[in-house]
Amino acid sequence: MDKKLGRNDPCWCGSKKKYKLCHEAQDEKVARLEKQGFLVPPRKILKTPEQIEGMKKSSEINIKVLDYVQEHIKAGVTTEEIDQWVYKITTEAGGIPAPLDYEGFPKSVCTSINEQVCHGIPSESIVLKDGDIVNVDVSTIYKGYFSDSSRMFCIGEVDPEKKRLVDVTRECVELGLKQVKPWGFLGDIGAVISEHARKNGYSVVEEIGGHGIGLEFHEDPWVGYVTEAGTGMVMVPGMVFTIEPMVNMGGCEIYQDENDGWTIYTEDGKPSAQWEIMVLVTDTGYEVLCW
Ligand code: MF3
Ligand code: CO
Repeated sequence: MDKKLGRNDPCWCGSKKKYKLCHEAQDEKVARLEKQGFLVPPRKILKTPEQIEGMKKSSEINIKVLDYVQEHIKAGVTTEEIDQWVYKITTEAGGIPAPLDYEGFPKSVCTSINEQVCHGIPSESIVLKDGDIVNVDVSTIYKGYFSDSSRMFCIGEVDPEKKRLVDVTRECVELGLKQVKPWGFLGDIGAVISEHARKNGYSVVEEIGGHGIGLEFHEDPWVGYVTEAGTGMVMVPGMVFTIEPMVNMGGCEIYQDENDGWTIYTEDGKPSAQWEIMVLVTDTGYEVLCW
């Protein structure tokens, strides 16, 4: 239970406005919904204007890194080189690559190719080749604020079926984004994403999802992409989370590499694609902070 403020006290969000003129009405609405049995966000995951500013600065670095990757990625590049680009650009901008040493992850970025679903580890022995589809997942810490987004890249001439997987997965993210609005449900996002993927003959990974983000890399809520509309946590202004579905050309089953302890593969060896954006719920809808 969050502390009840006096109506004339300064608001908890740091706006310096009186509580009654700032977040009081929203907090009352959240409390009412909670009483009715809905899952609502705790106040600690609602970002203040100051925190949002910090997350935007962090996102700027993240976007810059991905823009650099986009310009330079091509056949013949090793994923180790991508890792070095990410480290260099992030640190030169004053940031820290969030994956580095995160729960023992050995590199600054995740690079996942073809049937690799996510969390691929860069290596000098992995050379990108014509026809590969690759996800580069970049996350930054700047002054304590986290950002996280990923893009797919098609290397050279890519088989049209794989290209379609990449495009449909991006459409899934765009459709999911349109569901982001205050007082909607997180489950609304996964409902449209899984529908669009299935309509195209694809499946969506169930065990791995998106996450709240900001003061930590992974915060509540967990965001699944195989969900029912009208279920899950209520979206409230100030929430920030990622939309990052993993869409498989074949079945949804996955497994983890036993040797490296990280890389996730499709069970059937068919390709998988993922795009990731980081979204703020606003009073009127959403703002994409990072893509
Ligand atoms: N961006 C990835 C995610 O949100 C982060 C992977 S963390 C790592 O799931 F350490 F595995 F790289
Ligand atoms: Co993420």
